[in-house]
Amino acid sequence: MAYTIAFAGKGGTGKTTLAGFTVDYLVEKKLGTVLAVDADPNSNLNSVLGVEVDFTLGEIREEVKNNKEGVFPGGMTKAEYLNFRLQQCLVEAKGYDLLVMGRPEGQGCYCFANGVLREATDKLSDSYDFMVIDNEAGLEHLSRRTTKKVDLMFAVSECSKRGIDAANRIKDLIGELKLDVGELFLIINRVPEGGLTEEILDTVKKYKLTLAGTVPLDEEIYDYDNRGVPLVKVPRENRALSEYRKILDNILLPRIEIHNKKGQ
Ligand SMILES: Nc1ncnc2c1ncn2[C@@H]1O[C@H](COP(=O)(O)OP(=O)(O)OP(=O)(O)O)[C@@H](O)[C@H]1O
Ligand SMILES: [Mg+2]
Repeated sequence: MAYTIAFAGKGGTGKTTLAGFTVDYLVEKKLGTVLAVDADPNSNLNSVLGVEVDFTLGEIREEVKNNKEGVFPGGMTKAEYLNFRLQQCLVEAKGYDLLVMGRPEGQGCYCFANGVLREATDKLSDSYDFMVIDNEAGLEHLSRRTTKKVDLMFAVSECSKRGIDAANRIKDLIGELKLDVGELFLIINRVPEGGLTEEILDTVKKYKLTLAGTVPLDEEIYDYDNRGVPLVKVPRENRALSEYRKILDNILLPRIEIHNKKGQ
C-alpha cells in the first residue's frame, strides 16, 4: 500500500502549496512512484504543480448519471466503464501522476464523486509508493472519509490562535470518528518575521499538538502565485520552500525509512 500523506486545515492556510512542495520533494529525491490527489472540489493543486488537467472524477459522475439507458461503450458494464474512465483521469506528469476529483456540474452532493474518489484511491494505492492528498478546507472531508487510511496527516494552520484551534478540531475529529490516521502533525505556515508568539506556543502546548515546524511568510511565493507561475518553480533557496523541506527531512524521511523496512 502507498505511504499516504494528507493535508488538512482551514481555508487558505497553504495546504495546496505544501502538498505541491511535497510531491516535488518526493519526485526530486526519487523516493518512489507518486500519485498526487487533488481531493478539493475547487481543484488547484495542478496549478501549483504546473500541470494541465482535461478530465476529473466529478465529470464521471455526470456521465454515469446522464447515461439513463445504462448502456456503456464497447458493451462495458458500469463498473468496467468507471474503471476505464478512472485510468483516463490520471494525468501523467514529470515523475508522478495526478488525479483530480473536481466538482460535479450544477448542484448536487459530492457523495458519488467522493465514493468514486474513495474507490479510486483504494484501488490505486497498491500501484504507487506514495500518495499525497490535498484536501479541501474545513473538516467535512474527514467525516466523508475520502481515503481509508492516512499514514501522515499535516494540519496546516496560519499563525493565529484561531488557526491552531481549527487544527485541534481536526485532531479531535480524527479521534471521534476513529479515522485511520497514523500520525498528525501541525505545521504553522506564513509565520511573520518575529516568529511564533508565546500565546501561539502556549495554545499548541495546551492542545498537545505536535508541531512539525514553521514556514515563513514569503513574498516570493506570493508573487509567483499572483503571476500564475507554478509554485514548484520557486528557486530551491526560497526561504519558505527550504524551511518546509527541512520539515520533510525531519518528519517524513525517517518515517519512509521505517515504512520501507516494514514492507521488506
Ligand atoms: N509561506 C507562504 N508565504 C507566502 N504566501 C503563501 C505561503 N504559503 C502559501 N501562500 C499563499 O497563500 C495562498 C493560499 O495558499 P493555498 O492555496 O496553498 O492554501 P489552501 O489551504 O490550499 O487554500 P484552500 O483552503 O482555499 O484550498 C496562496 O496564494 C499561496 O500562494
Ligand atoms: Mg487548497
